Amino acid sequence: MINEYVEIANYYDNLLTSGYFDFDSLSNTLYNLLGARRKVLDIGIGTGLLTEKMLSLANYQIVGVDFSPRMLEIAKERLISSDVKLICEDITEFETEEKFEAIVSTGGVICIVKEDEEYKIYSHITEPEKSKQLLKKLHIQLDEGGFLALGIQGSHTNYKKEIKDEIFYEQKIKKEGNYVDKWYVFSEANGEIKSEQFCRFYVFDGRQTTQALIDAGFKQGFQIIDDKFLVSYK
Ligand SMILES: C[S@@+](CC[C@H](N)C(=O)[O-])C[C@H]1O[C@@H](n2cnc3c(N)ncnc32)[C@H](O)[C@@H]1O
Repeated sequence: MINEYVEIANYYDNLLTSGYFDFDSLSNTLYNLLGARRKVLDIGIGTGLLTEKMLSLANYQIVGVDFSPRMLEIAKERLISSDVKLICEDITEFETEEKFEAIVSTGGVICIVKEDEEYKIYSHITEPEKSKQLLKKLHIQLDEGGFLALGIQGSHTNYKKEIKDEIFYEQKIKKEGNYVDKWYVFSEANGEIKSEQFCRFYVFDGRQTTQALIDAGFKQGFQIIDDKFLVSYK
């Protein structure tokens, strides 16, 4: 399935812990933002790298949704001694009576890319209407005063670099209209490809991003915290 991180799951942590994201600093920013809030939903929790760091800071009650069974298997191993609830489901189909005090995503189902001086939603959901519906649903799943915190990344570019264990990571980007295609390629020094993943994002420009959040019910405007998260309050 498109955007399901199955093929590259075994190399994912190697990449992410080689400087792709700084989970210490992301979790510290969230810790300050969350204050006394404890109930958190992570949309596209992946292998649980953020959750692990968050749980080292406070006893959050975290529910993580992801539709990639392999990513969740790794998360389960990582979080074995915690009471995190991991749910293998497409977030667009995830229904719950539970309410959360915060909903977070670091590179998950929806993320934010800062480019051209704008904060843009990059959504793993390639139909824009479905992303808008998801934002509405997330708004409903939040407690009054709760917030949505979407991790901010820099513009996606083409590059290749060595990561851990003598593995090389290459990403190739193609931008066309509202779509950004991204190939993750993991190879050995001799060029032998070990694993590849193709992803397609639908991009909302800055104005569309603001409008989608307002249409979903979030308070007018958003806050940028430490240039790490775009935060919208219910
Ligand atoms: C780039 S990874 C980010 C994982 C994690 N948040 C992190 O910080 O490492 C994106 C994750 O979103 C998941 N994902 C993408 N679309 C999804 C959807 N519609 N429903 C549930 N999970 C989804 C993928 O399976 C993948 O694990």
